[in-house]
Amino acid sequence: MIDFQAIEDQYALPLFPKRGITLVKGKNARLWDDKGNEYIDCMGGQGVVNIGHCNDKVAEAIARQAQQLITCTGSFYSDQRALLIKKLVDITPANLNKVFLCNSGAESVEGAIKFARLSTGKTEFICAMRSFHGRTMGALSATFNPKYREPFEPLIPGFHFVPYNNIEKVEEKINDKTAAVMLEMVQGEGGVHLGDADFFKQISRLCEEKNIL
Ligand SMILES: Cc1ncc(COP(=O)(O)O)c(C=O)c1O
Repeated sequence: MIDFQAIEDQYALPLFPKRGITLVKGKNARLWDDKGNEYIDCMGGQGVVNIGHCNDKVAEAIARQAQQLITCTGSFYSDQRALLIKKLVDITPANLNKVFLCNSGAESVEGAIKFARLSTGKTEFICAMRSFHGRTMGALSATFNPKYREPFEPLIPGFHFVPYNNIEKVEEKINDKTAAVMLEMVQGEGGVHLGDADFFKQISRLCEEKNIL
């Protein structure tokens, strides 16, 4: 039998501590390893498969599209992209009316940082202590934990960190260069902390008052 773990250990960059299990199959919330052992999936691909593995409708749609057209650069219009972005706008709050499709969480954060700088003309960001926004250079600049940041410093300047759920500290840090306040509604990587509904309402009011995103 091929030793998949030895191959990964030899050739993959060691970014994640490994669990010593080789997964080969998934169905909804269940997973199987290469020895036939069955597991309940409590990670959901860190949120990526929160509708389950190999959902019949999703798998069928992917297979159908793969036989129809495999990609369509933004230089051309696409029937399926048009339908998707219209649906996203229909189901999100009324003030969200433009869509930027991307491939990962970090890429969406990079996009948000650039859109915020471009549309406000300002360069600073307020983020939370314990925050995690990804490992690319911009997303890392908005990430709190020194373990992730320090090996790659200097990062992008202008990111400030305040305690989560503390509106006074956010207010104190805001200045005329603040482009955006970047927050997770629920902190995950930082240890699973829920944001207070009231905190988010106040952040929203503050940002509207001061033309901050
Ligand atoms: C809150 C948050 N933002 C961004 C990211 C980065 O997402 P990705 O790994 O898809 O780049 C993560 C990843 O865990 C995350 O938890």
